[in-house]
Amino acid sequence: MQDWQRTHTCGALRAEHIGNDVVVNGWVRSVRDHGDLVFVDLRDRTGMVQICADASSASGLHDTLAGVKPESVLSIRGIVRRRRPGMENPRLETGSVEIAVTRVDTLNQCRQPLPFQLNDEAQMSLVNEELRLRYRYLDLRRPRLYEMLKLRHEVITSIRSFLNREGFLEIETPLFTRSTPEGARDYLVPYRLEPGLFYALPQSPQQYKQLLMVGGVERYYQIARCFRDEAQRADRQPEFTQLDLEMSFVTQDDILNLTEALTIELITTHSTKTLGSRPFTRLTYDEAIARYGTDKPDLRYGLELRDLNHLFQDTGFSVFRDTIESGGFVRGLIYPGGAGLSRKNLDDLTRFARQIGAKGLVHLAWATDSDSEAPVLQGPAARHLTADEARSLVRAMGAKPGDLILAVADSFRVASAVLGRLRCEIARHLSLAPRDVLHFCWVTDFPLVEWSEDEQRWDASHHPFTMPHLEDLEYLESDPGRVRAQCYDIVCNGIEWGSGSIRIARADIQSRVFALLGISQEIQQERFGHMLEAFAYGAPPHGGIAPGIDRLIMLLTDNDNIREVMAFPKIGGGGDPLMGAPAPVDASQLAELGLQIVPRARDSVHGGDPGSNDRA
Ligand code: AMO
Repeated sequence: MQDWQRTHTCGALRAEHIGNDVVVNGWVRSVRDHGDLVFVDLRDRTGMVQICADASSASGLHDTLAGVKPESVLSIRGIVRRRRPGMENPRLETGSVEIAVTRVDTLNQCRQPLPFQLNDEAQMSLVNEELRLRYRYLDLRRPRLYEMLKLRHEVITSIRSFLNREGFLEIETPLFTRSTPEGARDYLVPYRLEPGLFYALPQSPQQYKQLLMVGGVERYYQIARCFRDEAQRADRQPEFTQLDLEMSFVTQDDILNLTEALTIELITTHSTKTLGSRPFTRLTYDEAIARYGTDKPDLRYGLELRDLNHLFQDTGFSVFRDTIESGGFVRGLIYPGGAGLSRKNLDDLTRFARQIGAKGLVHLAWATDSDSEAPVLQGPAARHLTADEARSLVRAMGAKPGDLILAVADSFRVASAVLGRLRCEIARHLSLAPRDVLHFCWVTDFPLVEWSEDEQRWDASHHPFTMPHLEDLEYLESDPGRVRAQCYDIVCNGIEWGSGSIRIARADIQSRVFALLGISQEIQQERFGHMLEAFAYGAPPHGGIAPGIDRLIMLLTDNDNIREVMAFPKIGGGGDPLMGAPAPVDASQLAELGLQIVPRARDSVHGGDPGSNDRA
């Protein structure tokens, strides 16, 4: 052992060490020079300890310490002593002691001016994020980020230990592969030996995990890197990590139950937050849309949507009547206590509703001085409603005097989606969602396919390997929109945490689904022939799920920004400001790969997002 090497970590020192001769290593958090006394806060991964030298210290130690720059790396030798009365720091675990220095080794000076101050968390929130990511190695020195990385590590350790106990094998699948469609663009890797051929980085290990089931593995998992070239959002990164798992000889319930048990173990071990419901609420997709207007409902609060068609079949209010007559829906939502909202607030709500697709927003305020037998409703639409209609409306909505009723008349899809978004806005305004609750729920029975207006074809709502409900199989060609999938999402507080499904294990059904998605027989053979062939060799019934690890850490740490829970995230356009990636390559490398750069217009580079099956 070298004499500069630590005997203790900084965060370990306590009153019981008083009198010990110790060596600690770490980074200088701050230097406080009081003339006769100089204090240095030294930080390592375990915490911080105060170092002290006075003017009488041996051989210039006082001056050495006074001269060190923050973030330099030191080895400090000294005697642990009690801090002087009144100088203790109860917020620090080492706050009752300090080290009276007897030797200083500067292991490395921090010679550059710091791009931002690391020791002031309040100031850090003001620092430009790209600058922080450019100097991520400095940013990571903040205890908060270390704690996040530690939590991430511990969560992954718990996942491994749970699944290992359940008889799963952890298996790595290739990163150089063929396209696995999950709805985004692929990242491609050129193949040197035959220019013009490319590997695709996996959008998920979907096909490999199914092939492992055909291979008899039965229970697989992987902490899997996935790569998707899609528009970034606060909860999306171009490369991210899934807990990917797959099981054979199981039903949907088996997968839901296992995932639920794992989730409960993770939350109770790694969080002080309360679980919203146990067992987790289960909603079908249709129920979720009908009640919450979204397939990712935040169940920490009520505010359910209501159907109002039955009240307004014969109404004199033409907006409602015309919509109903043309097959549309009038749906409503309560803004509790919203009757007192200002004209401006109401205009903002209407503008918001229009921005997200509504033709308009009907708002009816129930004046506090009227009762439920003769509710006085106020708002531009109020004069079109009869007293009976007003009475039935407040009853159907379960409204109270002082509430605001919001209604949208449109197709079921639009009315539900708009009210679903308004529901979240209202909850935000009224702070209805407790931050210390994690309310997980299952959303099941998604439609197998969705009609894409842009492409004029059916798209898989999950991915093409999802098994339709057997009883709906007969409609696959005649009425695809009514076919439900054996597919499920696990949602928490309005965020999609994971998705999965029972898979198609028969080549004939798989081929019919590919055909429905507009994939010709020829392309099926070319791109997915290996899957169709594998199924012909005896594929077991199988299914799985893939919850996002990054999103779980976001939920556990109350982070709305996925970049805060990854060691080296990408910024907006997918760049890495620290490594300077992506970057040009040498002409010789291009030549070797048979590639030539053809400049093109900027907008085609950043062209439309093909969308993603991550329904978040
Ligand atoms: P899906 O595409 O729904 O399913 O992804 C599953 C989960 O992965 C996470 N996720 C992301 N996290 C961060 N950034 C992204 N860009 C991103 N995209 C997805 C989400 C999401 O719920 N192969 C299927 C799973 C299966 O069927 O077993 C799949 O990948 O948390």
